[in-house]
Amino acid sequence: MATHNVFITRRVPQKGLDMLLNAPDIEVDIWEGDLPPPRDLLLEKVQGIDGLYCLLTEKIDAELLDAAGPQLKVVSQMAVGYDNIDVAACTERGILVGNTPGVLTEATADLTLALLLGTARRIVTAAEAVKAGKWQTWEPMGYIGPDVYGSTVGILGLGRIGLAVAKRLRGFNVKLLYYSRQPTIEAEAVDAEWVDLDTLLADSDFVTIHCPLTPETKHLINAERLRQMKSTATLINTARGGVVDQDALIEALREGVIAYAGLDVTTPEPIPVDNPLLDLPNALVVPHIGSASISARNKMATMTAENLLAGCRGERLPNCVNPQVYEE
Ligand code: NAP
Ligand code: GLV
Repeated sequence: MATHNVFITRRVPQKGLDMLLNAPDIEVDIWEGDLPPPRDLLLEKVQGIDGLYCLLTEKIDAELLDAAGPQLKVVSQMAVGYDNIDVAACTERGILVGNTPGVLTEATADLTLALLLGTARRIVTAAEAVKAGKWQTWEPMGYIGPDVYGSTVGILGLGRIGLAVAKRLRGFNVKLLYYSRQPTIEAEAVDAEWVDLDTLLADSDFVTIHCPLTPETKHLINAERLRQMKSTATLINTARGGVVDQDALIEALREGVIAYAGLDVTTPEPIPVDNPLLDLPNALVVPHIGSASISARNKMATMTAENLLAGCRGERLPNCVNPQVYEE
């Protein structure tokens, strides 16, 4: 039986790992470090492999694909977003790219609601105050934030995660606006109104970002766009840091152009501890934990293994980003 060599760039949930370790035709090499493999080592490790199991922390570009060699059949990423992968370079070389849509939708929508409610109700600020011994009395003016209930929420990208966020928000009696490049029939079920980006920004109390990072969406939310928002508004981002011009956001939060931000994603990641964003009292930043639920991570790991196995074996990937490779 022909064996296929695969490299896994980090220890991942055991369910996914076992699918590969127990496959008789798969030879597994795994990077055991807690941090991503250094670039030099990654370029060395991919040499001669048939399949790569990677994370969003790795840059998968032409240099890496060339270092791997012409036998590389599949790049299987344990994430739905794949802006770290040069998909065109993969397609040119006939390399399939897999991702994990759907299985992390609910977990990421939950985290979005956590950031939305957490920023609105100043949860982290308040909890830190308790720990610091600053809870001296019930404060009639303390820790006051905007109501989520009855507010207007603008969803930038009503795809899988945006829609799951919308479904949750229906329980908060909100007015839902959304902006995507085209309207979607799914919006009817959540009573969301398709508006242009200008209207979404101007009318929303909360704007939540759920579009992928692409050349078109890079810095889509820039200084000018931030100025279109209400000065009382909150910006939530659980998509990709690059969709927002972060320097402009820092300035807007400092100057009171907008009131608050809740961010699961930043530029760069990890964000250096001396980044001014972390000094702002009106920014809540968490370390890219959108999909960090037990069930989502297990399903992501098994789905990534399924894509990897299929690619190595010359079968169709269950979730393929560049199916045009099959047509060539
Ligand atoms: P999806 O189902 O493909 O939804 C993406 C949405 O963005 C679609 O509604 C799409 O609509 C819209 N969109 C695309 N380009 C746009 C543009 N130029 N302007 C406005 N809207 C645009 O993707 P998903 O599964 O919901 O995931 C969305 C993103 O979330 C991923 O790409 C990933 O970056 C991020 N994510 C983050 C985490 C985390 O841990 N924080 C977890 C999962 C995913 P149109 O095509 O009609 O424009
Ligand atoms: C996480 O950010 C993902 O894209 O799956």
